Amino acid sequence: QGKRDLQGKKILVNAGGTREFIDPVRFIGNPSTGKQGIAIAKAAIHRGATVTLITTSNSPLPMGEAPPSVRVVRTSAEMHQVMLEEFPFADITIAAAAVGDVRSKITSDRKLPKSELPLNLELEYIPDIVADLSKRKRPDQILVGFAAQTGTEQEVMVAAKDKLIRKGLDAIAANAVNSSQTGFGTDTNQATFINKDGKFLSTPLCSKLELAHRLLDFLL
Ligand code: C5P
Repeated sequence: QGKRDLQGKKILVNAGGTREFIDPVRFIGNPSTGKQGIAIAKAAIHRGATVTLITTSNSPLPMGEAPPSVRVVRTSAEMHQVMLEEFPFADITIAAAAVGDVRSKITSDRKLPKSELPLNLELEYIPDIVADLSKRKRPDQILVGFAAQTGTEQEVMVAAKDKLIRKGLDAIAANAVNSSQTGFGTDTNQATFINKDGKFLSTPLCSKLELAHRLLDFLL
């Protein structure tokens, strides 16, 4: 792994799970810890890339000879804003973050007393960040998503291919989150990478860092 094959490339990575606040002490969230996205940032730095990491995670950030520029966000709206700002500068964008799908329609800046909490929370859909980026994508840019799915290998692949097309991505990493060794919070992972030409490659069960290197190999 002494390769410097990403020298001169600018890579934008997002990581972690967004929190959609109802009030300052309550949110709708997901179990993502940001480990896979941070591993991608680390791998890309190691291979000579200039990395910008947008993360919701407080977990240890990649340090090394070329520390990345790191921006920490909390909500999907903040993530969206920062991704729009950084996207034009990126050669490759890898969206590993678990961005929420829904949020509360009403939010409060002060903590709501229990008696004021609505028992039927009215929700709204959250705009899809990668789908928005794909509309702004230049031909020289590469945009990669992740698809965390439950279900059989076949079901995971079908859902990931659908997302690849629907969101206008160049490639997607499909990974099952219904096993104790893959997905949220684990140190290991397994994925199938699919590109828009239908080429695909499955990784073995491996560390998140190794999976990151295999993804970068696939993209190159
Ligand atoms: O549809 P699903 O959430 O499974 O798609 C996952 C991919 O889409 C990930 O790359 C994730 O970062 C991205 N996404 C997004 N904005 C959303 C939801 C998902 O960019 N609101």
